[in-house]
Amino acid sequence: MDRKYEIAKLLSEKTMMSPEDIMGIIETPPDMALGDFAFPCFRLAKQFRKSPQMISQEIASGITELPSFLDRIEVKGPYLNFYLSRLDYAKSTVREILEQGERYGSSDEGQKRNVVIDYSSINIAKPFHIGHLSTTVIGSSLYKIFNHLGYNSVGVNHLGDWGTQFGKLITAYKLWGDRDEVNEGSIHALLKLYVRFHDEAEKDPSLEDQGRYWFKQIEDGNPEALELFDWFKELTLKEVQKIYDILNIRFDSYAGEAFYNDKMAPVIQELEEKGLLKDSEGAKVVDLEDYGMPPCLILKSDGATLYATRDLACAFYRKKTYDFYKNIYVVAYQQNLHFQQLFKVIELMGYEWAKDMVHVAFGMVSMTEGTLSTRSGRVIFLEDVIRDVINRAREIIEEKNPDLPDKDETAKQVGVGALIYSTLSNNRIKDIVFDINKILNFDGETGPYVQYTHARACSVIRKAGDLEDVVPDYSEIASEEAYPLVKLLGDFPEVIKRAAEKYEPFYITRHVTQIAQAFNKYYYDVRIIDEDRNRTKARLDLVSATASTIRTGLALLGIEAPERM
Ligand code: ARG
Repeated sequence: MDRKYEIAKLLSEKTMMSPEDIMGIIETPPDMALGDFAFPCFRLAKQFRKSPQMISQEIASGITELPSFLDRIEVKGPYLNFYLSRLDYAKSTVREILEQGERYGSSDEGQKRNVVIDYSSINIAKPFHIGHLSTTVIGSSLYKIFNHLGYNSVGVNHLGDWGTQFGKLITAYKLWGDRDEVNEGSIHALLKLYVRFHDEAEKDPSLEDQGRYWFKQIEDGNPEALELFDWFKELTLKEVQKIYDILNIRFDSYAGEAFYNDKMAPVIQELEEKGLLKDSEGAKVVDLEDYGMPPCLILKSDGATLYATRDLACAFYRKKTYDFYKNIYVVAYQQNLHFQQLFKVIELMGYEWAKDMVHVAFGMVSMTEGTLSTRSGRVIFLEDVIRDVINRAREIIEEKNPDLPDKDETAKQVGVGALIYSTLSNNRIKDIVFDINKILNFDGETGPYVQYTHARACSVIRKAGDLEDVVPDYSEIASEEAYPLVKLLGDFPEVIKRAAEKYEPFYITRHVTQIAQAFNKYYYDVRIIDEDRNRTKARLDLVSATASTIRTGLALLGIEAPERM
């Protein structure tokens, strides 16, 4: 039951406003002592020609019969404060959570509509560096959040598998490469070849011509060039798959830039027909001056297509293939302009679905000095970060809980959890600085802290033993101590909805952290297991509901919740 909506309906009868409008006015008081919901009467003053204070009085005295979910209504100046019946609220919330389990907070609002999410989108022949962690983790979380709300998420890894750099790579490989060495060293060997190409090309510019030549060979389908290119691609995908496996990341499609090679011509033609293409020093552009943006480059003077041209073809392909409700790009804010241009061009072509394209931007990731042993000074490889975090988690577990079974598996869950949590622990647009010791601090606002709280709740449940047949006395969890926790659990579905609306998994991170904090406070204030079996059973139901909600929340972020730590 949506209590806020029930209150809105009640007020609607007294104010001649629609429940929907009232929903927008109802507030959540900053302090629980002021009730669970508040209705400010300021906006009614004009219509009623009375002071808000008088209006709140009148509405209150007009409500003669309280619905059972409400305990009381109090007038406080211009405000009407609504107090829920704590018993009713605690009982129904905990029951709902225990009934729904991992489905808690799910809904069918999505009605199976497709939400395309473009995330991770790595570049071939380049190692997975720490900059790609955010897109991978944010995108994967959004994927789960939208599915939870009844949408059908479609995860796309829009591979960066096109561009002149692949011609350079083939040149470098043919000059200095060795098949076994590359098979062995994989992306790192390719990166080395690429770096060498640039060093040598500074001395010998003819290398650039060779690079262009080999790129043309890929474009023209020369078998040797294609064989090498496909091999580079295969090596890269095999390598990054290891990381996806550890992080538990999946995709439904790997259609990347090369996939759109044969899909650009009709789009370019349509731009031409709609009079949107302009010549600019031999190149073709869409002029966006009226919108305060530089022109969007569609074709270079030599006829070559660009990143934007591919993304344009890609947007049409996705619309046709998935008829998406939203088409989301999880890409760093450095590409803000690119996406603004892309969306504008589609709008200018006259497609109303341009409004369904969303750029979910995020900030930069860096590491504090000295927290990581990297293979090369400049680039931070995600592989190294993951390895170090897991090793460190293993050490901490060894220290805290040497008898734990499955120490390796738990270390992996905790290390990866710490990494994902910290990536999602702030508004995504903020820059992040990783500090391995901080993100693994069991007492801070961290993944391990939330996981540890979950494990603690599980341990309480184990200790209590079997209370299957005991009837819970729920008045016990309508108490002053329990209610803040109950309230947070009850808010969880709303938080998921807001996270989807704002494309902000961080809302869930913040909320599960608050639940963990509230639970720990409850745990210190109250003895969970005592002689009174009915009360004990009610408290344990609350503990189970807490563990279950934390587990669901963490799962939506992509973090596992071990039962023992
Ligand atoms: N591969 C690009 C990069 O690493 C990101 C691609 C994002 N997706 C897209 N459709 N443009 O910067």
